Amino acid sequence: MKTIKASGVGNPIDRIEGHLKVTGKAKYASEFPVESMVYAQGVNSTIAKGKIKDIDASEAENLDGVIKVITFKNAEKLKNYSEEMTSFSLETVVPALQDQKVHYYGEYVACVVAETFEQAQYASRLVKVTYEEETPDIHLEENREKAYKPSDSADFNRGDVDAGMREAEVRVEQMYTTPIEHHHPMELHAAIVNWDNGKLKMYANQQILDTATTAIADTFGIAKEDVQVITPYIGGGFGSKLNVFKHITLATMASKMIGRPVQITVTRQQMVTNTGLRQFNEQKMRLGAKKDGTLTALAHHTTSHTAKNLQYFEACGNVSKMLYKTPNNSVTHRLIPLNIQVPSSMRAPGEATGSFALESAIDELAWKLKMDPVEFRIKNDTQTDMGAGKPFSSRLLTECLRIGAKKFGWEKRKMEPRTNTNGNWLIGYGVSAASRQAPYQKTSARVILNVENDELTATLQMDATDIGTGTYTIVAQTVSEYLDLPVENIKVEIGDSKFPVTPGSGGSWGAASYANGARAACQNAIAELKKKKNIAESEKVRIADLMKQNNLSTFEAKGTAKPSEEFKKYSVFSFGANFTEVWVDKDTGMYRIKRMVNVGSAGKILNPKTAYGQIIGGLTMGAGMVLAERTQVEPNYGNFITRTLADYHVPVNLDLANIDVIFLPEEDKIANEMGIKGIGELGITSVAASIANAIFNASGKRMRDLPITPEKLI
Ligand code: MOS
Repeated sequence: MKTIKASGVGNPIDRIEGHLKVTGKAKYASEFPVESMVYAQGVNSTIAKGKIKDIDASEAENLDGVIKVITFKNAEKLKNYSEEMTSFSLETVVPALQDQKVHYYGEYVACVVAETFEQAQYASRLVKVTYEEETPDIHLEENREKAYKPSDSADFNRGDVDAGMREAEVRVEQMYTTPIEHHHPMELHAAIVNWDNGKLKMYANQQILDTATTAIADTFGIAKEDVQVITPYIGGGFGSKLNVFKHITLATMASKMIGRPVQITVTRQQMVTNTGLRQFNEQKMRLGAKKDGTLTALAHHTTSHTAKNLQYFEACGNVSKMLYKTPNNSVTHRLIPLNIQVPSSMRAPGEATGSFALESAIDELAWKLKMDPVEFRIKNDTQTDMGAGKPFSSRLLTECLRIGAKKFGWEKRKMEPRTNTNGNWLIGYGVSAASRQAPYQKTSARVILNVENDELTATLQMDATDIGTGTYTIVAQTVSEYLDLPVENIKVEIGDSKFPVTPGSGGSWGAASYANGARAACQNAIAELKKKKNIAESEKVRIADLMKQNNLSTFEAKGTAKPSEEFKKYSVFSFGANFTEVWVDKDTGMYRIKRMVNVGSAGKILNPKTAYGQIIGGLTMGAGMVLAERTQVEPNYGNFITRTLADYHVPVNLDLANIDVIFLPEEDKIANEMGIKGIGELGITSVAASIANAIFNASGKRMRDLPITPEKLI
């Protein structure tokens, strides 16, 4: 018998799927060998607003290997299609090629299907589209009269902010802006779709299989049971693979029309116009405090944009409802429809951008108060979520700030900018507080036990996905923990919508949900085996022996975990604090992020190694918001200028040398039975403010518009 390795939850084991990934054996959505497969290529509009006059596809159609060109003329009419403004949700139907209207630059206007990828690519350039072009709406400032409130929950008010501002002795009223950003995961969006007698099976890199299956079924008006989506591995998503985008619709239409499996790959350039984005935000902050640092008012007003026919909004102001104690609080969100593709969730939607505005404004207020920004935050800390009117299940924000400050050497910080120098370098320290909701959700799993030669093995199945976060590994560790089995004896099968339903990977709920679902299945398996033999629940028996007593060589059990009634009485958030040291060259404005210390309080950490990776990734993406990330809109035609990774810059190792990550030991048993919260998005939250605040401390220049490029510091 094997000795049991320390592989249960809490151990920093290597990824169980790591070897498959680095040796190229892990199969991604576009890599499955499917017989008689053909290739589809979307054709994009070259105007942002107007009408297709005509499409001449004859040249493309006459090309060798081209099977079909689908346009508004011959596309299947989808019965759920509507021209009305629709809310863009995970389950929204996704029509394509339904009419002649063009809503944004790059919208699909045709789809070419050919025998080879190259033929499809080439033919797509020969499709001639003529338009009746109109001047597109692409600037917020020219379209302000169209601003509207997207939903009742978009506004929040408590107390009287104006009265609170009058009562204040020190005030900050400032505007902060964040640009359009793109997710740019390494793996392109792709699918292989097969329509077979009314049944649809596809390989598609979707983060959430259950909602994707619903959206696809509803788009084509078929039963959900007739749709199967498979994706064992996903090469990053960052939110861009949460929703179903139109390439899935194009490939499905194509497969239905020609009766063969169809592969579609969204090119890197198409990903800029066709798979969502983080929208441009204007955030107006109003804060007031008494001289002793007591916050008297906090207002957070966001104006952003949405598509002409789809509504999505990033709730930037939500963080201002819950992070600090204040009697007077107002949060609003307004949207302006523009001829730009629909925005979508991008890592920590709302918090990543909202916390830049809030945590910058807090720093500005602390500076005006001549208070240490760590102490100012601690003074206004609270154990109650004042926005939701509920206590936090646990909140160790003060501890994160104190421990981080100590580890970082915060006491060496000079309050006055431009006083800590080294040659030409101005040295600054910055801090910010982070928070991110931990919305654990209902999750089911199936466990299959097998005994052979007295050795137990287990297979755990669920429709979870691994977007690079380590799902396989933490699920295996959970099974290891609850079945007392080494991970070598555990197989994890995920990424198939036919497996038991989970909430998928998104919103920082994946790990807590998956682990608890796996736990429930394992606990049920043991309980059911014991019950068959009338063995008390508390009695310790080897599972292999239990199976033998039951005369079983194989046994299957299901389990479901979901939030308890207790959970609903609390606000469940992860918290963190981020400390940054920057060096700014006083002549050129070039700056370097010298080091960061990040402290997180996120409940039980399932695997410190993968968790560390999550936080490092989040910090890097947060640093990207400051250093370089920005999608430029061409101001006349509404095209995007930054369309490749050559001009959409992200940080590299040289930009982020020294990062310390600390997790406070914590188990939040209100959050769920295993005490897990979530870390997927905590890392990116408020990093941008931490860096911007350090830049102010170094240079005395307050940077309110991201990204902070060096010329702004001269
Ligand atoms: Mo996340 S933006 O929910 O993938």
